[in-house]
Formats: sequence, structure tokens, C-alpha cells
Amino acid sequence: MPDPTPTPAANASSSTPHAATVEFDHVTKTYDPRAAKAGAPGAVNDLSLSIPAGRICVLVGPSGCGKTTSLKMVNRLIEPTKGRILLDGVDVATRDVTELRRGIGYVIQQTGLFPHQTIEDNVATVPRLLGWPKARQKERAQELLGVVGLDPSRYARRYPAQLSGGERQRVGVARALAADPPVMLMDEPFGAVDPIVRERLQNEFLRLQEQLAKTILFVTHDIDEAIKLGDVVAVFRDGGIVEQFAPPAEILAAPASEFVARFVGADRGLKRLSLTRVNDVELGHAPTARAGDGAADARERTRRNELPYLLLLDAEDRPIGWVDEARLPAEGQLGDRLVSATSPLLDRRTTLKDALSMLLDADVQIGVVVDRRGAYRGIITVEQIAGFTRETAREAQVRADAATG
Ligand SMILES: Nc1ncnc2c1ncn2[C@@H]1O[C@H](COP(=O)(O)OP(=O)(O)OP(=O)(O)O)[C@@H](O)[C@H]1O
Ligand SMILES: [Mg+2]
Repeated sequence: MPDPTPTPAANASSSTPHAATVEFDHVTKTYDPRAAKAGAPGAVNDLSLSIPAGRICVLVGPSGCGKTTSLKMVNRLIEPTKGRILLDGVDVATRDVTELRRGIGYVIQQTGLFPHQTIEDNVATVPRLLGWPKARQKERAQELLGVVGLDPSRYARRYPAQLSGGERQRVGVARALAADPPVMLMDEPFGAVDPIVRERLQNEFLRLQEQLAKTILFVTHDIDEAIKLGDVVAVFRDGGIVEQFAPPAEILAAPASEFVARFVGADRGLKRLSLTRVNDVELGHAPTARAGDGAADARERTRRNELPYLLLLDAEDRPIGWVDEARLPAEGQLGDRLVSATSPLLDRRTTLKDALSMLLDADVQIGVVVDRRGAYRGIITVEQIAGFTRETAREAQVRADAATG
């Protein structure tokens, strides 16, 4: 068995807190005390982190830098050599181990499903340990399989070997959630799947967290995953030393050291765009008119505007397309046949990275932003996106400088 302690967790009574703060207070772990005396660095050195309740903290760094060790000290699979870990202000060392682990869901690095148990029994591991009635165990297992997107009627009776790697990882997540623990430790939960499945699992995970709002310590060595999932990110280097602990936008805009800069990569400007949504940018405006409006006035307004196009809208204000200024007639009414180009429609949730890549491919490099009903809200241009990133980089640098004094 890869791990003897899968996720004991509290029963899902309403008194269970749904999130807790997690704090590392000068935590050091040296596996080999003799090497440590000789001056070798430990697996984790003087780690201090404070993670607010209900947030995702991603621990990211190269292999062997102490990520798994840090996680395992939270549920006391490993005891620190020095320092304390506090859950909601209480030192975990003072708590009964079994009771402590009931409140901590744990997804281990290689899923660690029990091969001779069905998927349903795997998911119900903790409820079974807690002695829940059979029917309630089953019900909970089925519910959670649904939550992680595995149809219970298809998966519940199968065995782990009959699932794909990505499906097994979802079962691992379902098992960790089984008793609704306020804290989740997730060690590379999406490590073993291809990029497309990984992306889907990440999106589902974020959606799930919107409802669950648990405190999650999430380990990865993939910086893109860290940026996408973390509310805060701790960038580790060898010897369990944190080089930077900050929200992803700040790490990208103002890496605290050479190491962090290299780790986040030369494309950090582009990565930052994936953190910002159209919603966060002040939109520009194009001259607009509705099909059927008088051409003379529309032409006059377009002339006065710096854009050489007019955006034609339908009766519900939904964009039809761009009319070239040169093609606007001096009189008569505007109609669809004047439209010579369209450009990508964006909504408030589109990331600037997606917006930019759509714009670079479009006939007219102006993104048209629409609301939920598809009605015109404003425009966004490549220049605006570039300006926005320059501005936020400056702001983040100022904040980082202020923080380091
Ligand atoms: N039980 C152990 N005894 C001795 N050394 C250990 C033990 N477990 C881990 N280590 C060492 O401690 C360091 C940190 O290991 P850890 O498993 O925390 O790394 P990690 O960041 O999770 O790496 P990976 O990304 O490869 O999973 C490594 O140098 C590892 O060899
Ligand atoms: Mg590890």
C-alpha cells in the first residue's frame, strides 16, 4: 500500500468548520541529524507561511525541494525537527493524531487507491473508518463521484486498474473530500495525466473550490499550474527554502529573486495575461449604430472618431460586424450588406491571454466585448492589453519594493 493513512476526516456534521487557517511557524525538518550537524541543509529549513482560511496555497519548486515533506508535517505523517504548525491557531503537535487527521483530507502524490477495493469502497474509506452506516457511506461515495465528474452508475463498481490515470486521480480527490474536511493537502493530484485532461481537472477543481471554500495546500512542480490555481504561491528552492510567498500576479510582475525569475520563465508577461480578465480592464468604445439607422449621422460620428470603422448592431444591440468608414454612404439607411469584417466576441470572463490570441488571428484586431445576452458593452484592443500589463507590472513592483522596505 503506498500510503497507510488516506484521509481520515471528521464526519460531515454541520458543526465541522469548512476552512481553517494553516500556519507554519519556523518549521525545520532534518531527516539526517548527523548531516545537519556537518552543515548540510535539511529537507525544509525555517519555513514560515501563513495561509488564510478558505484559500488555495500552492507550494511549487523543483524536485526534492521539500514540498511533500512540508505537507506531511501538517497531518503529522512526519514530525518537524523544529518549529510548529498551527491549525486555527492550535499547534498540531498537541492534538490527537487520529482526531487531527479526521479534519484533513489528503490526496497523495500517486493517488494510492486500494487496488482490491471498488471505486465506491475506496471513496468511502474514511466514512467506513468512522463507522458511518453502510447506506450513508454508499450515498456519500456516489454523491462525491458525481462531484468529481464520474458517473457513479458507470464507475462505482469498477476497480482502480479499470480506470484511466486521470479518472484515478479524480477518485483520489473524491476520497479526500469524503468527510468534508476543513483542510485539504493535495500532493501533485493532477501530476500523472496529459495536458488536456489536466486542464479539465484544474477547471473542475477551481469550480468545486468556489463552492467548498476549503483551505487547500496544493503541491506541484508546474509553475503554470501554480499560477492558475493559487490564491497565494510559495516558490521553494532546494532545502525547503521559500524564495517568494505572494499572489501569482505579484510573483509574475515582480519576482523576488533571480531564482524565481528563472523559475517563472521568460514569458512571465504573457503568463500574467492569463490572470487578468476582460472584466478587469476599462473598455474602450467604438462608434456604433443599429441596422436601419440613418447613414449620414453614423458617417459623421465615425469620421470624428479615431477608429476607421463603425460597429453595426442589431435591434437587441448584438454586434453584426464592422463597416469600413470609407464604405459608409452619405445618405439612406445602414444595413447588413455594408459589413466587411467581424472580430472576436469576448465576454467579461475571457482572459487577456485568450483575448490577445484571438485578436492576433482576427480580421479586425479589435475585440468586441458583449454581455451575457450578447449585447455590445465595449471594445478592447491589443494596445490596451499591452498598456494594462505595463501598468500592473509597475504597480506590482512598487508594492514589492514597499514590502521589502
Ligand atoms: N524519509 C526520508 N528520509 C531521508 N530523506 C528524505 C526522506 N524523504 C524525503 N527525503 C529527502 O528530503 C528532500 C525533500 O523531499 P520531498 O519528498 O519533500 O521533496 P519534493 O519537493 O516533494 O520532491 P518531488 O517534487 O520530487 O516530489 C529530498 O532531498 C529527499 O531526498
Ligand atoms: Mg513530492
